[in-house]
Amino acid sequence: AFATRIFSGIQPSGGLTLGNYLGALKRFVEKQDEGIETVYCLVDMHAITVWQDPARLRQQTREAAAGFIAAGIDPARSILFNQSQVHAHAELAWIFNCVARMGWMSRMTQFKDKAGKNSENVSLGLFAYPALMAADILAYKATHVPVGEDQKQHLELCRDIAAKFNNDFGVDFFPITEPVIEGAGTRVMSLRDGTKKMSKSDPSDQSRINLTDDADMIAKKIKKAKTDAEALPGEMDGLADRPEARNLVNIYAALADMTPQAVLTQHAGAQFGSFKPALADLAVSVMSPITTEMNRLMQDVAEIDRILGEGAVRADAIARPIVNDVYDIVGM
Ligand code: ADP
Ligand code: NA
Repeated sequence: AFATRIFSGIQPSGGLTLGNYLGALKRFVEKQDEGIETVYCLVDMHAITVWQDPARLRQQTREAAAGFIAAGIDPARSILFNQSQVHAHAELAWIFNCVARMGWMSRMTQFKDKAGKNSENVSLGLFAYPALMAADILAYKATHVPVGEDQKQHLELCRDIAAKFNNDFGVDFFPITEPVIEGAGTRVMSLRDGTKKMSKSDPSDQSRINLTDDADMIAKKIKKAKTDAEALPGEMDGLADRPEARNLVNIYAALADMTPQAVLTQHAGAQFGSFKPALADLAVSVMSPITTEMNRLMQDVAEIDRILGEGAVRADAIARPIVNDVYDIVGM
């Protein structure tokens, strides 16, 4: 039996988005507030699998830390740190590169999406990304990982790696980690294209709401979001082939802690001319206090660095003995 421990991470590869907030960060805070042991990581080593300007990476890492704290992560109750500062991640990732099979990695849809037709010219790190992610999780023997829907396949790979390691070495060392994918915010889509996920790496800033956007910007982006001309239906079935409309209903639901059906019950028959302003008001009321607090925290970068440094020490205290045991098991 493994003690319940939550691990999750977000890449500081750009500013945090509403998708990161609803699919991940908001859930991270809920888990922390339930009193579970929570370990949260800014995964800068994942970020560099695609080119990052060094000064911007440093800035975005601090900004992401500020975003976590502003959203409710309490560095006294959760461990909050930066991946590259805890060397266990890179060390265990190498072991896992030798456990994972090429065939498993080749089936990862995120790699195929990100590499596109250019797979000869992307980094080796982008291909190995999910093995590093498994190391992030298993360096803490984490039992549960709250993530968005897009990470489901990577979590399955993490389970496969844990099971193969246990089996190869005849040990019951790593837990078979459970993904925790729940709520209306697990799949927030682009505001410009209801079939693409909202992402900080989308070239169009209009496609997403950033944690740093002010109230006017949030309202403007929601007003311009792609929709259809029909009114909102009373039942979810009525949204089946309306991805953009469904996305706005899901975002409303996730922001208001309602089910999407409850949102429809409340807004059945409404046109987007009235639903969008209601959604914008709701988004501003949830996001503005976070943005304000984040901007305040960014005034004191030394304090953010201190928090991350302290988090790294606490993370290392858990991960180091686990990775040392792994070396032992492997015969090193
Ligand atoms: P991004 O694609 O914005 O770079 P990351 O890869 O850093 O996001 O993912 C960090 C966390 O945010 C993961 O748990 C991921 O599932 C979640 N996430 C990212 N985008 C979305 C989205 N559009 N909707 C819901 N969750 C998301
Ligand atoms: Na991602």
